[in-house]
Order: sequence, then structure tokens, then C-alpha cells
Amino acid sequence: MSDCLYVSWRTAAVVTCVLLCTSLPVRAQDLAGQLSTLSLGGRLYDNHWAIIERDPPVESNPLYPAGLAVATGETWRCVACHGWDYRGREGHLGRGSQSVAFASLRSSAGKPTGEIKSETHAAITIKLSDTELEALSLFISAGQHDTANDLKDGKSTGDATSGKDIFEGACVSCHQADGKAYIIGEPGDRPSLGWVATRRPEQALHKIKNGVPGADMLSLRFLRQEQLLDLLAYLQTLEE
Ligand code: HEC
Ligand code: HEC
Repeated sequence: MSDCLYVSWRTAAVVTCVLLCTSLPVRAQDLAGQLSTLSLGGRLYDNHWAIIERDPPVESNPLYPAGLAVATGETWRCVACHGWDYRGREGHLGRGSQSVAFASLRSSAGKPTGEIKSETHAAITIKLSDTELEALSLFISAGQHDTANDLKDGKSTGDATSGKDIFEGACVSCHQADGKAYIIGEPGDRPSLGWVATRRPEQALHKIKNGVPGADMLSLRFLRQEQLLDLLAYLQTLEE
């Protein structure tokens, strides 16, 4: 009887060990794989043309409102109409009178990627591979964050003191302590992290989380959203 118990205890231990040893790394790998796919999706959302190294069509996107002073190539980026906060006219894009043409993607969060894929405007995504289209759809379904809690009157709700540690550990090697190195930004931006974080906080957050298309910028999606907000709070203390 006790032998039998002993054997079954050992069997259970071995089985548990095998299960743990095989399933844990696989799960960690899946998670890491998903994080990098979500980040890729976020960068495609930012500017898929830069990633596939092709020029957008030379004429303006017919979906884009006429009369706005935007370079034609810009009108073919997802972010141009859906925004850095994914809220279209309900967010930072909602200022001008033309903004009726800008739609929110917030209700697409959580939808199956197959459904999203069919809505991503074939004319805009025509050059993307299936894998890229899947990553973009996965980003819209599971990778966009709800910006409602991120900012209050344009200020990050995070803690700048904690953000400083992340900045000094992970960012100064490229951007320098004053945040003025290595920054180009979007057309019209000033080359300074302080400026971008203060004037374009949703843009800064999206790029920190997902990386920058075609550039050697980290993707910090593995950090918790609160830590990203701490970092953004610190960037907002840097000189513009
Ligand atoms: C020129 C403006 C414009 C661009 C660029 C644009 N969209 Fe849209 N998008 C819209 C508008 C307007 C709607 C809502 C009306 C419609 O379905 O045409 C929409 C709807 C959507 C929807 C469906 C949302 C819903 O709830 O119905 C998805 C998903 C979407 N877009 C994804 C994308 C992706 C991904 C890209 C980049 C590859 C992109 N869009 C680029 C204007 C744009
Ligand atoms: C390996 C060098 C490198 C490191 C390390 C790095 N960056 Fe970058 N970063 C870049 C490059 C290159 C760009 C692209 C330049 C551009 O287009 O503005 C960039 C762009 C950015 C942008 C986008 C600016 C904009 O809106 O266009 C932000 C924000 C940013 N970095 C913040 C950070 C933060 C915060 C850290 C630390 C967590 C960091 N970076 C670490 C190289 C780096």
C-alpha cells in the first residue's frame, strides 16, 4: 500500500515536472511571440509603407478629407485618420471641421482578427503580406490601449520619479540625458523628447510602446502601462 502510494506520488511528481518543464517555456515563448507581433502591428499602424519599404501612391487617398495641409503620402497611413489614440474624431484628431472623416477604432478592440482584416481598406493594405495583415489586425483587436486613463489635461497620470529610472537605464544611451539626440519625429515636430512628450503625448506613448517604423527604436510593450506612463511623465519634465 505504502509502496503503491510512493510510486503514485513519484509518478505525480514526474508528470508535474514534465508538464511544468515543457509548458512553462512554451507559454513564455508564446507570450514573447505575441508581444512582438503586437508591436509589429503597432508599427504597421503607424506607417506600414516605411516597414515594407515601398512608397505610398502618389495621389492623395480619396478617403482623406480634401483641403487639409497634409503631404499626399501621409493620407495613406492608418494613424492619419484613426489617430495616435485610436479614437479618430473622438480624440486628438477631433479639432478641425474636416474631422468627421476620421473614425474611432475603439469598438474594434476585442473583435476577431478575421473580421477586422475585412475592414482594413484593401486599397490601403494592398501591398501587405498575410502575416503583416494579421499582425495589424491583432494590434487593433488586442494591442491598442484605452487612452482615457493615460492623460489628464495632456499630462501623463504616471509618476515622473519612477520614470526617470527607466529613462536613465534604457534611453540615455541614444537620446542623451536631455532627450535631444536621435529624434526626428513627425513632420512639424521639434527634435526633442520633451517637446514630443508634452505636445504629442499620445504619439510618444504609441511609439515607445511599439517602436518606430524603420528606425532603431526599442519597443517597450513588455512593460506595464503604468510604467510606460511613469516614463512619459518623466519625458514631460524634459526641456522642450
Ligand atoms: C483616409 C482615412 C483613413 C485611413 C488612412 C484609414 N482609415 Fe480606417 N476607416 C476610415 C473611416 C472613415 C472609417 C469608417 C467608415 C468606413 O468604414 O469607411 C474606417 C473604418 C475602419 C475600420 C472599421 C471600424 C469600425 O468600427 O467600423 C477599421 C478596422 C479600420 N478602418 C482600420 C484601418 C487600418 C488598419 C488602416 C491602415 C491600414 C486604416 N483604417 C486607414 C478612414 C481611414
Ligand atoms: C538604440 C537607440 C535608441 C534607444 C536605446 C531608444 N531610442 Fe527612442 N528612438 C530611436 C530612434 C532611432 C528613433 C527614431 C527617430 C525619429 O524618427 O524620431 C527614436 C524615436 C523615439 C520616439 C519617437 C519620437 C516621435 O514621436 O517621433 C520616442 C518618444 C522615443 N524614441 C523615446 C525613447 C525612450 C523613452 C527610450 C527609452 C525607453 C528610447 N527612446 C530608447 C533610438 C533609440
